[in-house]
Amino acid sequence: MIVGLPKEIKNNESRVALTPGGVFELTKNNHTVYVQKGAGFDSGFSDDDYVKAGATLLPSIEEVYAIADMIVKVKEPIEKEYSLAKEGQVIFTYFHFASNQTLTDAMVASKAICIAYETVVDDNGTLPLLTPMSEVAGRMAVQQGAKYLEKPIKGKGVLLGGVPGVRPGKVLVLGGGVVGVQAAKMAAGLGAIVNILDINMDRLRYINDVMPNNVITEFSSEYNIRRHIKDADLIVGGVLIPGAKAPKLITRDMLKEMQPGTVIVDVAVDQGGCIETTKPTTHEDPIYIIDDVVHYCVANMPGAVPYTSTIALTNVTLPYVLQLANKGWVNACESNPNLNSGLNIVKGEIVCEDILK
Ligand SMILES: NC(=O)c1ccc[n+]([C@@H]2O[C@H](COP(=O)([O-])OP(=O)(O)OC[C@H]3O[C@@H](n4cnc5c(N)ncnc54)[C@H](O)[C@@H]3O)[C@@H](O)[C@H]2O)c1
Repeated sequence: MIVGLPKEIKNNESRVALTPGGVFELTKNNHTVYVQKGAGFDSGFSDDDYVKAGATLLPSIEEVYAIADMIVKVKEPIEKEYSLAKEGQVIFTYFHFASNQTLTDAMVASKAICIAYETVVDDNGTLPLLTPMSEVAGRMAVQQGAKYLEKPIKGKGVLLGGVPGVRPGKVLVLGGGVVGVQAAKMAAGLGAIVNILDINMDRLRYINDVMPNNVITEFSSEYNIRRHIKDADLIVGGVLIPGAKAPKLITRDMLKEMQPGTVIVDVAVDQGGCIETTKPTTHEDPIYIIDDVVHYCVANMPGAVPYTSTIALTNVTLPYVLQLANKGWVNACESNPNLNSGLNIVKGEIVCEDILK
């Protein structure tokens, strides 16, 4: 199969969908890989790295789309790419069709085969191609939170780890899923006191078993949240109700109960956020302040660390890319129900009901 790797052109997207290691695996399996010049540059991979792995370079995105049977990407195609997708061409990427009717219409019109990372489900019912980005965002939440807690960057002026003779900072983590656990782990590693709240008792039992003693599990209730926000230094929002908007666990009036300079990192911003005052921000302008509380609500946090995010993403996508290339999309999807759940649009027909909700 001919596989094409275009450079991402969405604003501020620095990841790339295949590492040179991924290209090597494809060429080892007798596939031909065309890489757009500069595609991996922002993730730390040179054109020469791809050539050494067996790829052929092409100067433009148009040429990559024109020659490839399968395009492997990171973000959904943007308007400039709509007309490049071809009938019968496989496009394997994050699409998020449900929130983008224009993209859905364009991909239906293209008659391409659209397989979405975000709807690939594993045997446990979890979303394996979303997990690594939640891991990145969860860990980053504490890194960003610690930074904005510094006084010159508008925070309270608290060092999360404290120092001998001074109490450490207090971190409240809402949601004990992938984001929450990774955030708790980072904060605990810095020496902070961490309270992690969830409504899933099995999850709290697991966290209680595996985390160090400075991570305390509690049931998520309004009473407990109100109690903790009074002296929390950093609050990380990581709740998710699949397929629904995040519940507003901290309402506008509750900000007044927080100390000035408290930092909120609402990772759940992409589902509307679990704080009533959350609104999406960008890496160029990541924070805003309401009632003296610093809000960090960047909707694509992993985009800031493309060296790590690219490798984390391609670790999980490559096995599926290889199946699609080796078997062709029809056989690959028939023989693997997990991959089959990624099929969203096939030659002009929407085959994933969730898109229509
Ligand atoms: N901003 C970004 O760049 C970025 C990156 C990755 C993920 N995310 C988002 O982060 C959010 C969390 O993702 P995840 O992978 O950790 O999800 P997850 O499903 O692994 O975890 C969500 C957790 O929230 C818990 N929860 C549900 N209702 C709750 C409540 N009322 N109180 C406390 N906990 C509650 C669930 O029991 C679950 O444990 C999602 O919205 C995801 O899209 C954002």
